[in-house]
Amino acid sequence: MDSPFETLGIDPDADEDELVDAYRRRVKSAHPDHGGSAEEFQAVRTAYEAIRAGYEPGDELEPVETDGRRPADEGASRNGQHDVGTARNGETGDGTGGAGSDTGPDPEPEPERRGARVEFLDYDVLTDHGWSLADDDLFEKAAESGLDGDAYGEVFVEPRTNLLKAAEDAGHSWPFACRGGACANCAVAVVEGDVKMPSNHILSEEMLEQGVRLSCISLPVTDDLQVVYNIEHLPGLDELRLPPQHARKMSAGD
Ligand code: FES
Repeated sequence: MDSPFETLGIDPDADEDELVDAYRRRVKSAHPDHGGSAEEFQAVRTAYEAIRAGYEPGDELEPVETDGRRPADEGASRNGQHDVGTARNGETGDGTGGAGSDTGPDPEPEPERRGARVEFLDYDVLTDHGWSLADDDLFEKAAESGLDGDAYGEVFVEPRTNLLKAAEDAGHSWPFACRGGACANCAVAVVEGDVKMPSNHILSEEMLEQGVRLSCISLPVTDDLQVVYNIEHLPGLDELRLPPQHARKMSAGD
């Protein structure tokens, strides 16, 4: 079995930038949409998370789940990294007391989630209408504008399901590329509500504070959300994109 370093094609003494670069390259080529396989894709993600967690030769590798979490390690890894979440008003945190809060009493256990209702809006609509992400009545205006169902609507997100997957399951085609948190193609702006990401190695602190999240690894932590998708061309995100993929909508002939 290849070591995590061999899986990513880097030396054991590679620095953080080399690690992230290698991961972005490998997670894309390993994806089934790019000629890889589900097993290869998971192996790349497992390798990446293992190295970030301080992998040493002989350590056991814990597979990363499809939503980006390791089974017994939701929220924190051995090198002190925590889930990255968001809240309205630019507050960042993990929804249970704040990302990176290494001291103080143990956080309350998270309640069992029953899913979330997500109201979504295509960023192209904002461009067409001259609206802004900062408009307080953005979603009210969208609801009254007779937009088609791909541009504005609602999806229900089942527990342990990420936003991108929920949208695709509902028949929508949101942008994506790596599906592994390594690009900005799937970026959304969380306008209302709260999601968490198991990790973040791409988005800047400023983006996080603006509510930008990666839909492919974002799990709702509130019952209701409002998100604007298709924001990947905004300044700061555009240069983080990989060659895009779009979810293929199933037709009767598939
Ligand atoms: S598709 Fe690349 S981070 Fe989500």
